[in-house]
Amino acid sequence: MNILKKLIICCILLIGMNTFGYTAKDTNKTQIICASCHGKTGNTMTPSYPKLAGQNEKYFIKQMLAFKKTQRDNLIMQNIASNLTEADLRDLAAYYAKQSPQIGIARRVLVKPGQRLYRAGDKDRYLPACMTCHGPAGEGNSLAGIPMLAGQHSAYTKAQLFAYRTNTRKTDPNQIMQDIANHLTDDDIAALASYIEGLHRIH
Ligand code: HEC
Ligand code: HEC
Repeated sequence: MNILKKLIICCILLIGMNTFGYTAKDTNKTQIICASCHGKTGNTMTPSYPKLAGQNEKYFIKQMLAFKKTQRDNLIMQNIASNLTEADLRDLAAYYAKQSPQIGIARRVLVKPGQRLYRAGDKDRYLPACMTCHGPAGEGNSLAGIPMLAGQHSAYTKAQLFAYRTNTRKTDPNQIMQDIANHLTDDDIAALASYIEGLHRIH
């Protein structure tokens, strides 16, 4: 890790430990902190930070609790979540769920292979179609708490699929995503992540 990265993380941890604890109850101020990485309406331009706009509340809260309990690995988010109450999480989840997601653009050469796996899976490799759970347009399922994927940064999606595959992301007690990611090659992951970035959500 270079010095700049270390400094940035240090600053964030300091904000977390000092000011953040006192402002956590104030949802507006909290949103400003989130906005510095995730964007004001949850549509960040930084590829490694996930877009939150339009994400369903059930999934959102589950992930925040996973960071809080350090079940999901990310120092920054763990520290931020540890300062938030369940009421804060409900308010934040409701705010982001109401925002409109901005869809990105898929790379032309990856559309076909990405779409094939997304819509049909691959029987020979015991791969279910992503669409059966995440919806034909990547809209997710808010009742079941299955995440919306549409428009998400491909760099973030790739990182998550790798994390499931290496079993570093253990937020899914049924291991559905770990099992699926185990059957995906690096090329599959790149194609799926790009295809998902360009997926259009149907309202
Ligand atoms: C310093 C940057 C930073 C700040 C500030 C920040 N986040 Fe994050 N957030 C991240 C990163 C990076 C990830 C991806 C972590 C990973 O790879 O697992 C993330 C992940 C998330 C996720 C999981 C998204 C998903 O699709 O699974 C949620 C929810 C989230 N953040 C909410 C928040 C909220 C709410 C706040 C403010 C209270 C906040 N974040 C503040 C950087 C930040
Ligand atoms: C049987 C249902 C099911 C199928 C099929 C499925 N998923 Fe998932 N997916 C889930 C669930 C449930 C979660 C949330 C798991 C958790 O809490 O970590 C999830 C989470 C994810 C995430 C993390 C999203 C985020 O914001 O961090 C990605 C990326 C993802 N799935 C991609 C895919 C892809 C690509 C496929 C097809 C190859 C697929 N999924 C097939 C149920 C499914």
